[in-house]
Amino acid sequence: MNNSINNNGSELDMAYLQQLLRQQAQRRQLYENIAILGCGYVGRALAACWQEQGHFVTGTTTRQERVALLQPLLSRVVAMTGDDASAVQSLVQGQDTVVISVAPTGFQVADEATYEKTYLTTAENLLQALKQTPSVKQVIYLSSYSVYGDRQGEWVDETASISPTESRSQMLYEAEQIVSQADSEHQRICILRLGGIYGPGRELVGMLGGMAGMTLPGRGDRVINWIHRDDIVGVIEFARLNELQGIYNLVDDSQLTVKEQLERICSRYGLPPANWDQSKLSLPGKSVRVSNQKLKATGYQFIHPQIVV
Ligand SMILES: NC(=O)c1ccc[n+]([C@@H]2O[C@H](COP(=O)([O-])OP(=O)(O)OC[C@H]3O[C@@H](n4cnc5c(N)ncnc54)[C@H](OP(=O)(O)O)[C@@H]3O)[C@@H](O)[C@H]2O)c1
Repeated sequence: MNNSINNNGSELDMAYLQQLLRQQAQRRQLYENIAILGCGYVGRALAACWQEQGHFVTGTTTRQERVALLQPLLSRVVAMTGDDASAVQSLVQGQDTVVISVAPTGFQVADEATYEKTYLTTAENLLQALKQTPSVKQVIYLSSYSVYGDRQGEWVDETASISPTESRSQMLYEAEQIVSQADSEHQRICILRLGGIYGPGRELVGMLGGMAGMTLPGRGDRVINWIHRDDIVGVIEFARLNELQGIYNLVDDSQLTVKEQLERICSRYGLPPANWDQSKLSLPGKSVRVSNQKLKATGYQFIHPQIVV
């Protein structure tokens, strides 16, 4: 499908994606008011695509200093946080589509109070705002496959029972449930459970390459699910155009173990391979194979079905 795509998650990929999205938008000939709450790594790329197509895109950041940076990508930039109920209300006012792409800002793992504020309070404020804003036809809410918890390598699909063991994953799941309360025939809620996000500027080698040459405990058999940013943008646009409703897993097809992923990265970058010490217990972490069949059944074709290293 994508001979024009190189193997490095580069600008060429974005050009190809934009061409696809332009063609889709032209087919529909409809320009919308769209709000993106949280113009970070994903929100920014989404904003750039939609702005290019001619939609009126409002995007948010929590930091005043990022406003000028985002201005070229957006029709309107708002500095706000999701725990500000009146700011959420005025953000959704007059919108056709709303995308929620919030995550705690910063490099360190956020504490529970920040998680609660970022996900739960935002979800509650959004729910209240939607009740008063019937113009919003669709909300696309970005969640995570971490809600499935550790399944010891077993497959899960969207029908799997959810009982997250970690409080942060529990909050993500609760936020999904709060937002879902707004779901109706006229206000479609689409929840995307994303794999780990990678792409330009967030390459897998940067995240996993530090393990090259090391002796690591266990067998490296933990399965991590990934999704390239191009496909996140592609699926969000597909969900908007095809009016998707309900929960969809958004992970690629690769389903590789950490060991297999690291082998690909080491081979691609000429790094020394890692050794696995099977006499030691693996570091704690989740292992689960997430099915993307429900999404594929809608007709979406992945731009990067396999991880790009
Ligand atoms: N990273 C992953 O591997 C991963 C995996 C699964 C799911 N997800 C989900 O995918 C989505 C996109 O992730 P990403 O990597 O693009 O996130 P990101 O780069 O960290 O961007 C998050 C955005 O949310 C904003 N934000 C932070 N706290 C907020 C609050 N309290 N209220 C409103 N906005 C707030 C940030 O503001 P600033 O502009 O001020 O930074 C930023 O614009 C998120 O919903 C995340 O939970 C991520």
